[in-house]
Amino acid sequence: MNETPTVEMLRTEEMRLTQTFESEIAQLLKEPFHGVFGSRTFFQNRHYIRFTAHIDGILIGHLALGLRAVTLGDNLLDVIGIAEVGIDMAFRGQGIGRRLVMAALEEGRQSPASFALLFGDTNIYGGMGFAKASNPVTSTSFEAARTGKTITETEHPLMVCQLGDSVWNNDLPLDLAGFRF
Ligand SMILES: CC(C)(COP(=O)(O)OP(=O)(O)OC[C@H]1O[C@@H](n2cnc3c(N)ncnc32)[C@H](O)[C@@H]1OP(=O)(O)O)[C@@H](O)C(=O)NCCC(=O)NCCS
Repeated sequence: MNETPTVEMLRTEEMRLTQTFESEIAQLLKEPFHGVFGSRTFFQNRHYIRFTAHIDGILIGHLALGLRAVTLGDNLLDVIGIAEVGIDMAFRGQGIGRRLVMAALEEGRQSPASFALLFGDTNIYGGMGFAKASNPVTSTSFEAARTGKTITETEHPLMVCQLGDSVWNNDLPLDLAGFRF
């Protein structure tokens, strides 16, 4: 009888990433993100923490987490942003993405953030506590890690998960004060 392999979860702060680990992350993210990161381990800019999943020391899953102050209506509030979620093709659909997201949300609950934000698919993140948000979103567009224009979008895949007691207001404009997560 085959034993289910043990998945080890790691948390690494951005400033502690080694070159070797970054190369492994860049390699893992190539397929899920169609190579658009080049040799980077991020799409737009660096993050704060990486959550990774490993089997027998081999990297099979990744999620990046950032902390940012954004403006919702007239209120400045802290949020965490989840990005670059990618699982090795051979290990998809086994709950590893969910485990990485849960680890990020737990980190967020211990942080100053009131909400977790991501741009993603409701089929994937809807069952993890995220709801689609309809706020107009202002952000800075980035192309190949270069600053583009400031844009405001009403059609976008923004999703929000409440971390504390505050309730998200979908009617207010959201200014990300920078690029999308
Ligand atoms: C999307 C991805 C990160 C999910 O990770 P995973 O480990 O395969 O997902 P899990 O097994 O933890 O499943 C989590 C949920 O997502 C759903 N899901 C997973 N892959 C899905 C897909 N391709 N389409 C729709 N739903 C999907 C699962 O049904 C599950 O839903 P539930 O919570 O209602 O049961 C992974 O499949 C991947 O790397 N895909 C390619 C890159 C990508 O699309 N990244 C996300 C950008 S938003």
